[in-house]
Amino acid sequence: MKDQLLKAFQHDFQRHDGDVYYSPGRVNLIGEHIDYNGGYVLPCALSYGTYGVVGKREDMKVCVLSPSFSSKVYCFNIDEIKKDSQNRWADYIKGSIKTLIDHGYTPTHGLDLYIEGTMPVNAGLSSSASLELLIITIFDQMFHFNLTLEQKARFGQYAENHFVGVNSGIMDQFAVVSGKKDHAILLNTQTLDYEYIPLDFNEYQLLIVNSNKKRGLADSKYNERFRECQESLQTLKLTFDIDNLCSLTDEQLNLSQSILSPLHFKRVRHVQSEQKRTLAACDALRKNDLNQFAKLLIASHHSLRDDYEVTGFELDTLVQTLLDAGAIGARMTGAGFGGCVVSIIKMDDLECIKESVNHVYKTKIGYEPSFYAVIPSDGPSNI
Ligand code: GLA
Repeated sequence: MKDQLLKAFQHDFQRHDGDVYYSPGRVNLIGEHIDYNGGYVLPCALSYGTYGVVGKREDMKVCVLSPSFSSKVYCFNIDEIKKDSQNRWADYIKGSIKTLIDHGYTPTHGLDLYIEGTMPVNAGLSSSASLELLIITIFDQMFHFNLTLEQKARFGQYAENHFVGVNSGIMDQFAVVSGKKDHAILLNTQTLDYEYIPLDFNEYQLLIVNSNKKRGLADSKYNERFRECQESLQTLKLTFDIDNLCSLTDEQLNLSQSILSPLHFKRVRHVQSEQKRTLAACDALRKNDLNQFAKLLIASHHSLRDDYEVTGFELDTLVQTLLDAGAIGARMTGAGFGGCVVSIIKMDDLECIKESVNHVYKTKIGYEPSFYAVIPSDGPSNI
């Protein structure tokens, strides 16, 4: 892969040098839609992600070629970074560079950049955080900024919140930047304390299945859920001494029912129960109780379907189809409204489950899903 990427970079930019970087995507195992509510999340970085090849330029331009998005090299000036509605894909690159500059980390020259991804885009596996952290890592290393892991994650999130315009939490960027081979990351999104949890499933494995449903309104729906949580918190703070929705006790949750609208109450019930499920899921992993872990994944999906309402027909069908085919646990992962499901299956059943899910899903939905094995991987690096 590395040689191929170098060749492409040298050919397209007519150069003889090039430095290759890799930044992973991530899958969230449990703890969904609670990273912007101060909760615990349990993601892991993936062996699918984004590669970048870079070389120094003498001017202040960044010239990017990303064959999956455009057949032409796209250049912009580091000194005047603006959004361009014709090239929205470049927003993640521009946003990351602008964030560095706005925080006092100013590059002293431009660069040529070749980008190639190995993961599905807009499918809930964080291709955006993968790209943001690729850019931040490249600039950090090239210009010796010496950023900490936390700074990198926060800058990625800042780019997404303030440049791209999605109110996403810290989970994706933190999961990407702190990825560790064979481990998931239990992250407290309130304090950013984290702990690595070994992922050893014996004869079982994690399997990601992409519903291949286009996520048209995902960003605006995501911002809507974010707003509903903010509104609920403001209202509940008038009665309870709480900093975030994840810290609600069971008793406070019960009392909330008469304080909030039915819709807001459902959102809060998901957040509060997902926090408990995430901690219980970690306990189950620590005790090697895979069946309990799998049950919690299913319960998480039901809560996201019924209370948070971010699943939809395709994801619900896919989860049920996987369970019917023999998976012991399955749930939507990421923002939802389309995208991927993460499931636990017996390794020996892989081919048989794929065949059955392919057939049933295609008959019900009209097109096929795609399958990705999960290999928990390290964070971004110069390879
Ligand atoms: C998206 C966001 C994350 C998180 C998930 C839902 O991936 O970027 O911050 O909120 O959705 O858990």
